[in-house]
Amino acid sequence: MPTETSIKIHPRRPRHQLKGRQPSDAARAEVRALIGPPPAEGHRRDLLIEHLHALNDHWHGLFERHLVALAAEMRLSMAEVYEVASFYHHFELLRDDAAAPRLTVRVCQSLSCQLAGAGDLLARLPALLGTDVQVVPAPCIGRCEQAPAALVGQRALGYATAQDIVSMSSKASAPASQAQAAPEVIAFEAYHQGGGYALAQAVARGERDAEGVMAALEHAGLRGLGGAGFPAGRKWRIVRGFDAPG
Ligand code: FES
Repeated sequence: MPTETSIKIHPRRPRHQLKGRQPSDAARAEVRALIGPPPAEGHRRDLLIEHLHALNDHWHGLFERHLVALAAEMRLSMAEVYEVASFYHHFELLRDDAAAPRLTVRVCQSLSCQLAGAGDLLARLPALLGTDVQVVPAPCIGRCEQAPAALVGQRALGYATAQDIVSMSSKASAPASQAQAAPEVIAFEAYHQGGGYALAQAVARGERDAEGVMAALEHAGLRGLGGAGFPAGRKWRIVRGFDAPG
């Protein structure tokens, strides 16, 4: 039972003082330079991940001061911003007094990659890459068929060997290259002209039965590669049960 001398009475916080850490003007300006000033109706909350990416790419990590400022700019709680930022392995959470690594190498350590030698890569890479490259384990990056897989900055590498990773890391000499290393992709027009989305359009025009497509998808047993292995057919059916965005 607390004695009279052990009880501390904290003075009440004046009403005009907000709870928690407050953003500095400098950090707010740095955030605004990337996401723009808040529009009259406020920032869209559903763009939180995009804004986190903008900060992470520009600063090569998410510094505490920027997370606090972003929460204030978006009128979100700090807990909400931190939960999203800490959920995804793409983001680098950094203390304000830390230095951002020149490059981060993420080695998948989920099952397929473990079986294919991810543990060995994780053990050997720090000594091979040097102190300015951070090597961290990561959950499945969706390249299980090319195990072991790794991400060098934002660039995915399948059938990764220590030699490949060292070679790719040395080319990523400037931190900005982490953000600019976009993979080769087929642009929408080229994909469309090559017959892409023809089935989707036929369904939209009512020429094909959506139920039949859905049933074929379910029967195929296709699953997502995001780690949960969620059945694709069931996901499509759930989405179809909702109204389209207005
Ligand atoms: S298990 Fe490594 S990429 Fe999926």
